[in-house]
Amino acid sequence: MAIEIRATGRAVPKNRVTNDELAKKIDTSDEWIRSHTGIGARHIAGEDQSTSSLALEAAKQALSAAAGKTGIDEDAVKEQAATLDLILIATATADYYGCPSVACLVQHGLGAVNAAAMDISAGCTGFVYGLETASGLLGISDSRKRALVIGAETLTRVANWEDRGTCVLFGDGAGAVLLEKTGETGKRGIVRSVLGADGSGSEALIMRRGGTKNPFKKGETVELPTVIEMDGRAVYNFAVKAVTGAIEFLMDREGLAMDAIKYIIPHQANARIIHAAGKRLHIPEEKLYLNIEEYANTSSASIPIALDELNKAGKLQKGDIILTVGFGGGLTYGGNVIIW
Ligand code: UT7
Repeated sequence: MAIEIRATGRAVPKNRVTNDELAKKIDTSDEWIRSHTGIGARHIAGEDQSTSSLALEAAKQALSAAAGKTGIDEDAVKEQAATLDLILIATATADYYGCPSVACLVQHGLGAVNAAAMDISAGCTGFVYGLETASGLLGISDSRKRALVIGAETLTRVANWEDRGTCVLFGDGAGAVLLEKTGETGKRGIVRSVLGADGSGSEALIMRRGGTKNPFKKGETVELPTVIEMDGRAVYNFAVKAVTGAIEFLMDREGLAMDAIKYIIPHQANARIIHAAGKRLHIPEEKLYLNIEEYANTSSASIPIALDELNKAGKLQKGDIILTVGFGGGLTYGGNVIIW
């Protein structure tokens, strides 16, 4: 048995905002943002878009691709959706507080009447957690065969646009993969994962208002809505250690030499974090996939968006070994070894 990736998809809002455009409204500059993060632009969801609408579009792209279609083919989507047993959505920016989950909204939007649906809350590591969770849920039951795992976010809706230290970092988007349990006996698909957390760092990346601990009260004048607060330095230090540790662990457990790995797809939070980890582990530049310049930090969507880009560009061949590695709010970290 193997849990293989059958197809991928992504959805990114059309509204592309460059650093220079941002600098017209915020006290920042293209030079600062690029030199501190590697970000050149971000895509911002329109008023008619939401985390669930981006997730639905990415899901439809993946299901159409699974049927051999380019773009979205609604007939193919309908047919494929009926075969889904599970929909997992990793997000830190769900449409609604508590319930319904984004996964249930997408389940309905697809007409995936046979699928269980739930969200995963693991910060920017959510998609990595999602791949391992879906693999486990498919593997443990004879009756489950196909799962959609999606990372979807509208972070620009919870960015504090008065805090130049955080708001310039984020973008919106979604990426989806279709997993299928196959009878393959050799090593294929999601072959190993590492998942971890360090809740002692929970305040380093936090949305403090709006939850049950600190709810908005009737009649209260809300100075600040629910926004992301971040201790950038603390997250940076955690991230470099988490990325290097996860890669080393996965390579060690799988007995992998660097030469054997085609791509490492890190969470796209800051190009400097990725380069620092790459330097420590002597990872050749061409193996580290970077697209942060175009999308900024899309949290749990960044890894599946990158996977879809590589896949659609024809850069992944059967048998290629890929590592994903994520880190983020929680604090959480994790990685997957995927044999394409
Ligand atoms: O996916 C979630 C995980 N999040 C992360 O991985 C984020 C990790 N952390 C980081 O990426 C970095 O810490 C940041 C990019 C957030 C910040 O970079 P930094 O090198 O740690 O900058 P800093 O916060 O120490 O700020 C340095 C200076 C300050 O000015 P002074 O006090 O030295 O005069 C800031 O006020 O840069 C200033 N600054 C800015 N200047 C222009 C902060 N933000 C901006 C800005 N434009 N947008």
